[in-house]
Amino acid sequence: MKYFIGNWKMFGIPTSINILKKINSFCSKDKNRKKYRVIITPPFTLIEKFAKTFKGKKISIGAQNCYYKDPFSSNTSAVSPYMIKSVGAKYTLIGHSDNRGEGDNDVLLKKKVQFALKNKLKIVFCIGENKVEKKNKKTIIVLKKQLQNVLEKKFDKNNIIIAYEPIWSIGTGKLPTPLELREITIQIKNILQNIFSRNSPAVLYGGSVDEKSIEIFKEINEIDGFLIGGASKSSKKFIDILKNYYR
Ligand code: PGA
Repeated sequence: MKYFIGNWKMFGIPTSINILKKINSFCSKDKNRKKYRVIITPPFTLIEKFAKTFKGKKISIGAQNCYYKDPFSSNTSAVSPYMIKSVGAKYTLIGHSDNRGEGDNDVLLKKKVQFALKNKLKIVFCIGENKVEKKNKKTIIVLKKQLQNVLEKKFDKNNIIIAYEPIWSIGTGKLPTPLELREITIQIKNILQNIFSRNSPAVLYGGSVDEKSIEIFKEINEIDGFLIGGASKSSKKFIDILKNYYR
């Protein structure tokens, strides 16, 4: 089972549901539909509408972030996992590099992970090195720290998905080579096996995945799916990603 997660970031108004209707109608007839799971993370403003519309359908809905207090607290602009869950979302991203860049550090991320799991949200925990770290061959050291500082053995690994998103690849069209990516994915899984002392959670790749680049990743069996930004805002591109992956 592979995951195809569309991260809409700051995109979408109520009528954007038409994009998902097209994706859902493709998926419901697709002969490969049992081989994958589709999750879309729209902005908070659209979660309830989308979750209601696609309840019991092929598309699940998630949030892009959550706060670390529960259920209600006096924190302006914050949205708690409890609130996210109450409007029908099943997942939340945590630690996307956009949010790390705005101050989400490991201490805070750990609290977010704990609160999200406590509220029975599945988390998609994002990790990734920047351009300088890659250049200095620090990728694995960085990823290891990001994972070990936040995840603990006692967390339910069945509710955790890891998304490896090299920051230098997000929105740039730059991709790791298949060889690099296979190696890094294997190393991430080794780190996770050590943390959980058994099988690793699913590990996805994100960063400039689109209907063309997906061809490159097809052969890397170790990857359990993809976190897709820009290309998930177009029903055609998202559908072509699925078509090309299973072609
Ligand atoms: P991208 O974004 O696919 O546009 O590179 C991925 C992400 O930031 O999740």
